Amino acid sequence: WILGLGAMVQIAVAAPISISGNDVALKFNSEKGEQRTLVMPDGKTVKYVAYEKIYYVTNVEDSTYQYLNFYVPESALATEAGVPIFFRTYTGGYMAAKAEKPSETDATGRALLEGYAVCIPGSRGWNAEVSGQNGKTTFTGRAPAGLVDLKAAIRYLRFNDAIMPGDAEKIITDGTSAGGAMSALLGTTGNNPAYEPYLKAMGAANARDDVYASVCYCPITDLNHADMAYEWLYGCTNRKKRQLNDDQDAVSKELAAAYPAYLNSLGLKRADGTPLTDQNYLDYIKHFLIKSAQKAIAEGGVLPDDAGIIYYKPNKGGSSEFVVDIDMDQYLNYVVSTQPLKTPPAFDALHVLTDKPTPENQLFGDRTGNSVNFTSFSLLKATGNANAELDSHIQELVRIMNPMNFIQDSNSTHARYWYIRHGARDRDTSFPVPVNLATKLMNAGYEVDFALPWNRPHTGDYNLDDLFDWIKQIL
Ligand code: DHB
Repeated sequence: WILGLGAMVQIAVAAPISISGNDVALKFNSEKGEQRTLVMPDGKTVKYVAYEKIYYVTNVEDSTYQYLNFYVPESALATEAGVPIFFRTYTGGYMAAKAEKPSETDATGRALLEGYAVCIPGSRGWNAEVSGQNGKTTFTGRAPAGLVDLKAAIRYLRFNDAIMPGDAEKIITDGTSAGGAMSALLGTTGNNPAYEPYLKAMGAANARDDVYASVCYCPITDLNHADMAYEWLYGCTNRKKRQLNDDQDAVSKELAAAYPAYLNSLGLKRADGTPLTDQNYLDYIKHFLIKSAQKAIAEGGVLPDDAGIIYYKPNKGGSSEFVVDIDMDQYLNYVVSTQPLKTPPAFDALHVLTDKPTPENQLFGDRTGNSVNFTSFSLLKATGNANAELDSHIQELVRIMNPMNFIQDSNSTHARYWYIRHGARDRDTSFPVPVNLATKLMNAGYEVDFALPWNRPHTGDYNLDDLFDWIKQIL
């Protein structure tokens, strides 16, 4: 089967080892734990046992990244009931991420404090490289390496569920940005056969990789439509300030014009069943922003720069005010005034061989280190050839790195519970990307807790009280 796969994967794969060999090599060793204590910012302490540097595949290609760390609070060791496993990826910028230790300042420390097991997997990314004996560098982490690494880590937890602390049927994935995208992929692609050849070749455990819940902070996803969405949303912003040259301005307008067809093809609906189209979609985004602003006021926050952007109405009988409307053009210009926009196309840069490639150009690039275009739009512009076609291999990589393609795929086992956040002034990708993801999941019947938290830039693992209240609810 490796021959059959060869053209598609373009990697040299070590000879497959037998499943019984995997069974032994991937067995969890409970004697290797080490006792530690985490001190939280408020002085509370959590005692836990650390199991570190556990390789989760047998054909390890990149020993810097392809292992996981696993942490169990002592409270969980003392009970028979399996506690949930909080699975935190530190992938950012679609780069490689090492398996980290739990931190008192993010959701991993908080998860231990709540009595949950924590798994922090390493995973390859576009910048992961190994040097061969021939002196050649191989980029090991091009798509879909990072994702299949995370899936292999989940399979390891399932495979060892009977002998490991924690309940592998209660895995909650968490990540930010590219990591938020990975979390969304883990939640939508469970057990999907599209990834099977990669997992087999890596020597992943023979086990399921679906998860219980997915936490996605500012997911940078739907990469092949993100350029259009960006220009469509931000087309109203001040072009002079954006300092686009005539070519870039033309590219922006073309991309923006292409977005409605895609948006309308999704057939999304509001919670009350109203069909969403490019005609009413800005109002839909606005209703999330109004909710977010109202929550910020209710929590005592001060809304920045409200002159002409936000319209208030005095609260009944109270002195506090609540938001009734937002001028979207003004609001979007305000967002851009806090951080300049990316240059169009925001994700699939033109001329990837001469310009600075984006993380996404590198993600879909090959193992020699080349960057590539991954949308027809940018490929046509870059080559000047109206008949240029994306390589079918790249098209397939783009497909399997996009969770939007798997929400309605009956070959996936989906996470039932979703917690999706994207900051109300995060411009790393445009609001329609997370809004579409959340809405498509909601329309498909999954339980989705979605918000655009007020005044938040591109960050993750915030409002941990909210997150862990939600986790308690879904358990
Ligand atoms: C991330 C941010 C980006 O703007 C992007 O295009 C890809 C990834 C990140 O922070 O992970």
